[in-house]
Amino acid sequence: MSEHDHPLQRAAARELEEAHGLSPAEAAERAARMHERLHRRFGTWVRRELIIQRREDHSEKSREVRGEERAAASGGELFERLSLNIRLQHATMAVSVIVLVITGIPLKFHASGWAKAIIGALGGPDVTPIIHRVGATGLIIAGLWHLFYIAFTREGRWNFKQLIPMPKDAVDAFKQIVYYLGRTDERPKFDRFSYVEKFDYWAVYWGMVIMIGSGTVLWFTDFWLRFVPKWFTDIAKEAHSDEALLATLAIVIWHFYNVHFNPHKFPMNRTFITGKISELEMREEHPLEYERLIQRRQNARQSARDPEPSQASRDSLPASEGGSGGHSRREGGEERREAPPQSGGRGGRR
Ligand code: HEM
Repeated sequence: MSEHDHPLQRAAARELEEAHGLSPAEAAERAARMHERLHRRFGTWVRRELIIQRREDHSEKSREVRGEERAAASGGELFERLSLNIRLQHATMAVSVIVLVITGIPLKFHASGWAKAIIGALGGPDVTPIIHRVGATGLIIAGLWHLFYIAFTREGRWNFKQLIPMPKDAVDAFKQIVYYLGRTDERPKFDRFSYVEKFDYWAVYWGMVIMIGSGTVLWFTDFWLRFVPKWFTDIAKEAHSDEALLATLAIVIWHFYNVHFNPHKFPMNRTFITGKISELEMREEHPLEYERLIQRRQNARQSARDPEPSQASRDSLPASEGGSGGHSRREGGEERREAPPQSGGRGGRR
């Protein structure tokens, strides 16, 4: 086929004639000049379209598979992820932080029109700092409550241990990036808390230390100035003001996306209200924890069948799952709680 006969060149000449009103001779001449670049761009366009189509086909297939799995899991088991104690701590902290952000951020940007409007709506510049201190008291209560929970409850200690960053978290993060880059189909397998959840927890933990520490200095500046130089309280104000913005953005972007707005959970993840997650979520998001629970259940069944288990099978019994890790069974729409967290020995995971 000669260059003049190339279908792309002919298509370009026709387009120039029909859409741009060029004479047949000029259209042919210009199309011939365009031909080489047109050919290259056409190749790029086809390649890009192919990638997009393949991606769409892949997502379509994944959606179908997920839909089927969801349908299969809808009658499955519900696992308790957050105990009532944790949910109440979370609610206290969430309400306090919302109050603190709504009052604190306008105080930071008090010169702007929008900030003045919010401060005005909250009762003016005298009332807004008082509401901020009420929110701060709520946050302090949530912080102390959490410390007591970690120190004095078995569930709290167990959950806290599960939240300690480990080398596996760095490996998981790396594997997840490789997966997102499409270099592997294998996703990292998470245990009770993924590296994302651990990061979320420690960001809040660290944020609370900074906010409560610096906020207390702002609240009782005169008292503090009896012991520390002025630059100390100035630094506290800067730290409070800057960390406030960082904390607000971390909550709105990182926390809300990971927990509620990602495509698997949008528009809202209800676990912070119900405390439960489905079997499908458990299998997909916490496969190692799921496998351990199933193994533990099988071992329990085995030892119920065999009243005098051998030493070997006794040794293979995992220690209690503890945490909030009870689980309930949903049968015919009815939910039934199964074995609550056992006291468990100090071996295994505790
Ligand atoms: C998520 C938590 C919090 C956020 C987002 C936050 C935010 C803010 C912001 C942005 C300001 C204005 C700073 C400036 O003028 O540049 C502020 C002021 C202040 N914050 Fe906080 N804060 C939080 C927690 C706390 C806590 C826990 C305390 C007390 C223990 C506290 C006490 C104060 C005080 C006393 C002021 C000065 C208010 C005034 O003008 O009288 N804050 N906060």
